[in-house]
Amino acid sequence: MSEYLRFAFTSDLHLDRRSPEAAPRWERFFAELGETRPDVVVLCGDIVGLDKEGPLRELGAALDRHVPDAQRLFVPGNHDLWQRDPDRDTERFYAGELAALFRETAGLSLLDGAPRVLGGTIGVVGSLGWYDYSLAAPGLVLGPRDSYERKTFHGHRVWNDARWTSIEDDRAFCARLVAQLDADIDEVKRRGARRVVAITHTLAFAEMVRSVHEKPLWTFAQAFHGSTALGEVIAGHAEVALHVCGHTHLPAEMRVGGNGLVSVNVGGGYDRPRSFVRDVPL
Ligand SMILES: [Fe+2]
Ligand SMILES: [Fe+2]
Repeated sequence: MSEYLRFAFTSDLHLDRRSPEAAPRWERFFAELGETRPDVVVLCGDIVGLDKEGPLRELGAALDRHVPDAQRLFVPGNHDLWQRDPDRDTERFYAGELAALFRETAGLSLLDGAPRVLGGTIGVVGSLGWYDYSLAAPGLVLGPRDSYERKTFHGHRVWNDARWTSIEDDRAFCARLVAQLDADIDEVKRRGARRVVAITHTLAFAEMVRSVHEKPLWTFAQAFHGSTALGEVIAGHAEVALHVCGHTHLPAEMRVGGNGLVSVNVGGGYDRPRSFVRDVPL
């Protein structure tokens, strides 16, 4: 019997925006994922976007071909919540229909509010995550008509969650998700997990914020990159050994907190799929 479970993480596939010219790259990506022979594949959000069903079915078929034996887990990203319907109720979709859609089309199991204990000792918890402006760029001066609530800066609507979701109070929504994640970690500990892997779509630690562009719009958008409250919960449980996120498309790995906790941003982006593999001891 092996002494670890092999996890393969990928994020921000944005499969609704896959271009036909990139088909060979995608085929190679899934083939290489299969060659790592993971026990568990975790998708860390932004799997699709406004168009969901077709791309999810294709994803399911690719996973059937290349990683037929791996468990498939996911957290949704903000783009997975997007809906065209003007009467959309994003929170209801997130709490209800979304799980069934991803399960039936791609065989993916939602982690949010449904934590697992694998191999008897490894807890796996996850959350969409969201943002509460706690990662907003310090010192950025907003004009009179700019606001993080409206996601508008210098007349530009910087962040399209304002357009395609019905989340009106980001802080309150984020706080509910943070509380759920905390409860999920408690739950796996109660069920015997000695080591916990925590996944969030958005960033959870300020150290992970990278101001790569000198562009003011990107600086403004930092407010929507995640929440330090997620990090406080994750680092607050000594059993969490690994945190994995996505969302900004910028790969990174760093130690956070004092307990040897490692936070990894998978990175990725449109037609630039990335993954990384980690063996978690049982
Ligand atoms: Fe993304
Ligand atoms: Fe995202």
